[in-house]
Amino acid sequence: TKDILILAIESSCDETAASVVKNGRTILSNVISSQIDTHTAYGGVVPEIASREHIKAINYVIERALTEAAVTLADITAIGVTYGPGLVGALLVGVAEAKAIAYAAQKPLIGVHHIEGHVSANFIENKDLEPPFVCLIVSGGHTHLVIVKDYGEFEIIGRTRDDAAGEAFDKVARAVGLGYPGGPKVDRAAKEGNPHAIEFPRGKVADSPYDFSFSGLKSAVLNYINHAKMTGEEICVPDLAASFQNSVVDSLVSRAILAAKEYGYQKLAIAGGVASNTALRAVMEEACKKNGISFYHPSPVFCTDNAAMIGVAAYYEYIRGKRSGWDLNAVPNLKL
Ligand code: KG4
Ligand code: ZN
Repeated sequence: TKDILILAIESSCDETAASVVKNGRTILSNVISSQIDTHTAYGGVVPEIASREHIKAINYVIERALTEAAVTLADITAIGVTYGPGLVGALLVGVAEAKAIAYAAQKPLIGVHHIEGHVSANFIENKDLEPPFVCLIVSGGHTHLVIVKDYGEFEIIGRTRDDAAGEAFDKVARAVGLGYPGGPKVDRAAKEGNPHAIEFPRGKVADSPYDFSFSGLKSAVLNYINHAKMTGEEICVPDLAASFQNSVVDSLVSRAILAAKEYGYQKLAIAGGVASNTALRAVMEEACKKNGISFYHPSPVFCTDNAAMIGVAAYYEYIRGKRSGWDLNAVPNLKL
């Protein structure tokens, strides 16, 4: 039988990315053009600038993805593209590009949910992983605990009531002067610190054992910093980073493990940018081992935004018969 080749495009936030994926799980190319250097000067992603940077990069990124995969557009079976959630102007660049290519080359078009992409990143390196399993999705904009019932089929059992996990990392990093992007910087600083140095609260949501809350923790960290500034005490950044991170990881791991046990799944995966956090991976690994659960995670490069994961998700949508029309539009607040 003929190989199914997906050309995938991702532009929902600050990475312009394209990838060619063969038969769902083989990545022939994975090209990412990051805008981080452009946004660093502003301390965060500036939406208008993100859109412009996507426009500058996208044609080149797609050309590179095809070249590195040693294929031409004619070889491609279908075009997959992230259409939400994300920054509307950023998403529009990818969606317009995908529509133009699909129309000109007469290929099927498949709109992909960004979060479904993150979950699908787990299929790339774990060739034997198949639904159903529990997945903890932790990114800059999302914190969801889901049961992946089938490809593209999710039951949400928990979510954050306020900040997303990645958002908490980014805000704490900014407050303590580590800068943008916060997650990797807190992760690195925490390696030199004591996770038990400062007692920060664990966010709990009454009567919702699978929901998350990080705003209380964030306030506690900000209060700690303000208090130190007022009294002139010096802040040990590694200790603060490690203690904050320990609280987040504790909340994430305890709920994910509880979900796997209560719902009766022996497979647990993590996804999204925060899934590349070294402490989260280590603690989750340990907890899974203790509870007889198989732990799955993508390599860091497939945790943060990339197009390979979008290609994997698009493949499973394609074989399920999903096709998008020429009216496909960016949906910034697309629900899972
Ligand atoms: O999935 P992602 O690349 O983009 C979204 O869809 O949001 O996630 C980005 C988020 C940012 O908040 C970033 O600070 C966080 O993931 N992040 C990390 C790490 N690497 C990225 N958070 C903690 N530790 C990390 N190593
Ligand atoms: Zn993402």
